[in-house]
Amino acid sequence: MRKKVIAGNWKMNKVPNEAIEFISELAPLVKDTENEVVLCVPYTDLFYSLLHAQDTNIKIGAQNMHYEEKGAYTGEVSGEMLKSIGVEYVIIGHSERRAYYGETDETVNKKLKKALSLGLKPIVCVGESLNQRESGEAKEVVTTQTRLALEGLKNDEVEKTIIAYEPIWAIGTGKTATKEDANETIKWIREEIEKIYGKDVAESVIIQYGGSVKSGNAKDLFEMSDIDGGLVGGASLDAQEFAKIVNYDK
Ligand code: PGA
Repeated sequence: MRKKVIAGNWKMNKVPNEAIEFISELAPLVKDTENEVVLCVPYTDLFYSLLHAQDTNIKIGAQNMHYEEKGAYTGEVSGEMLKSIGVEYVIIGHSERRAYYGETDETVNKKLKKALSLGLKPIVCVGESLNQRESGEAKEVVTTQTRLALEGLKNDEVEKTIIAYEPIWAIGTGKTATKEDANETIKWIREEIEKIYGKDVAESVIIQYGGSVKSGNAKDLFEMSDIDGGLVGGASLDAQEFAKIVNYDK
């Protein structure tokens, strides 16, 4: 049985004091869950969040990393730097980074390889635009993004990679993919992985859904056969709401 991984993506929100307050409020609410609880916070919140989440079941992640270890890359943070302070997870290739910061399938692949080599747990985002969905290209887009992201990885590395299927048109818009569409698209991703890496790998890869997940739709989505939890943006900014999503199965 694949574990459900429910990850908050705070994006560019919350200063350290707010992060600490949030974790204090969330920790008792999610302490009994069997689901994996992750908060992907801004770089400036990482250290404080790690300290504060120390004796809880809340795992801390970053929202991006560079694929080089160090060097003249002003403003960037390396995987080694994340690892050095105890960060466990890292989001790679979020559609906002692809759209605004020149992230490509190639840089996603490099970052993924680097994260895995360091023992970071990567959450790789794939997803189609509204245009692509409406013109029937969604399958081609998400399977191609998946294939290129995973290129050159060994089977055991693919198994350690979490994929987040996030239709771009559903992110921050309040529009959620229907549970059937989300499940079908995630099945396409799983089939693509099976073609290249075999059934065992495909069956063990955790694939989340993301895009306007909230407490009101989490149960419907996460109970689908192929949806292994979610990557949650807006609704992860409120501890009570995020706890309800984590505890969707209670
Ligand atoms: P949203 O964002 O839940 O606010 O739609 C999801 C994401 O971008 O990861």
